[in-house]
Amino acid sequence: MNPTISQKRKIVKQVAQIVKAKQSGEGSGHDWWHTYRVWQMAKYLNGKEKADFFVVELGALLHDIADWKFHSGDDTAGPKAAKKILNKIKVSKETTEKICEIITHTSYKGAGVKTAMDTLEGKIVQDADRLDAIGAVGIARAFAFGGHAKRAIYDPANKPRLHKTAKQYKKTQSGTSINHFYEKLLLLKDRMNTKTGKKIAVERHKFMEQYLTRFYQEWEGKI
Ligand code: ADP
Ligand code: NI
Repeated sequence: MNPTISQKRKIVKQVAQIVKAKQSGEGSGHDWWHTYRVWQMAKYLNGKEKADFFVVELGALLHDIADWKFHSGDDTAGPKAAKKILNKIKVSKETTEKICEIITHTSYKGAGVKTAMDTLEGKIVQDADRLDAIGAVGIARAFAFGGHAKRAIYDPANKPRLHKTAKQYKKTQSGTSINHFYEKLLLLKDRMNTKTGKKIAVERHKFMEQYLTRFYQEWEGKI
């Protein structure tokens, strides 16, 4: 039997509690608050784009439940972990499959790597996730991640690289946090799936460009 809307809302809340408990206190940019923001943004985008709210919200909540970068490139870890949670609270097989499909394809894997998303629900979750990587919060996350990976903030001699494979992209040791802007953040605006997401991305992109202009000025002692 299909759950009613109010049962679905209850399940969403329940999953939010589970994910919150699991992700709290994570320091590399994948903490609960990242998931929370993606969830809120996914709800906003869905309000405009009108997909299935249940799949969108559960997909957003579970999209980083086990990140592939921290599971030696294993992109089945996330869907597996999500399945376990969804089975336990008796979400149907059909819905679970849709959510796992979204989780498999959400993550950015390098400038030259295509991550296709077939469903509108998936496009919304991916846009929400990407919007959290750009703008003011995105900048904070890049430096937080950089610190976590012991990367320098910036080194003029260390040039950005456009990674052709996910494997190359995963090797984060040698780059700088500023390079990450060129390797990912500034590329996201043109990879948005939805009209609403694109509009928000354009604004956040402008803000990052202004930020970088000031950053280079300050680096050279210019006021
Ligand atoms: P998402 O949750 O959007 O899929 P990622 O898992 O790719 O993001 O990374 C988590 C956060 O850390 C993002 O904001 C991302 O831009 C940032 N990040 C990822 N790799 C690097 C890196 N090599 N240097 C700096 N920041 C990074
Ligand atoms: Ni994410």
